[in-house]
Amino acid sequence: MAATPSQGFGAPRRHFRIVDSTNERARELAAAGVPSGMVVTASEQSAGRGRRGRQWTAPPGKALLCSAILSPLRVEHALLPLAAPLAVCEAVESLAPLACQVKWPNDVWSDERKLSGILIEAQPPSWAVIGIGLNVSIEPGEFPPDLRHPATSVGHGVGTEEALSAVCASLGDWVNASRDRVLTEFEARDALRGRAVRWTGAGGDEGAGVGVADGIDDRGNLVVLRKEGERLSLGSGEVTLSVPAKQVE
Ligand code: BTN
Repeated sequence: MAATPSQGFGAPRRHFRIVDSTNERARELAAAGVPSGMVVTASEQSAGRGRRGRQWTAPPGKALLCSAILSPLRVEHALLPLAAPLAVCEAVESLAPLACQVKWPNDVWSDERKLSGILIEAQPPSWAVIGIGLNVSIEPGEFPPDLRHPATSVGHGVGTEEALSAVCASLGDWVNASRDRVLTEFEARDALRGRAVRWTGAGGDEGAGVGVADGIDDRGNLVVLRKEGERLSLGSGEVTLSVPAKQVE
């Protein structure tokens, strides 16, 4: 079997002082056929997008706002939604004395607080845009008061350019990682395993429910155990802790 070509990220780069959404711009560029590895960054977004149609906001210059283009999208990239947060975990840990976990499918947490969110938009088999929002130097008092989950920043004097270099390097390593490597590392960083969770919007008959998270299956679905002993694999939807993570002091 032919080896999967290695993938670098970060060049070419298009930077905006302010843009609606780096994902939106990256999608246009990807559709126009720019090279794989190109990134779109911004100091500020006026219409930053989060998962499930939510908004993503950050004070200007204090978060890494980056959308990386991967093209083409191959079957080997099936676990990209899990590989991308693993890349962010490693990048953050290379920059600051923090320990990162992943909350399925692709939030990055440190000390139970959300450090990074990832929105992947794709048009298989042509391209995927990996949109990463990483809180770099946002002060506790600068986060919106109505966040669904407590948030935190990398801190430790790290800047957004430094964060971009680390994330691009790590992403290049993780996008082509083997299925086994992704699943093993995800298991080691799984923030939900063994915890009571509730889910909504998972589709089908299992649209909503409560249970205990029991890792992920080999397709990257979240496995949950219901009280009745039933095991379910959730491929989509919103999963939250039944017992809330610690609140911001
Ligand atoms: C989430 O946690 O809901 C995902 C948030 C993803 C935000 C990033 S910021 C850079 C890129 N551009 C966007 O509009 N969204 C992603």
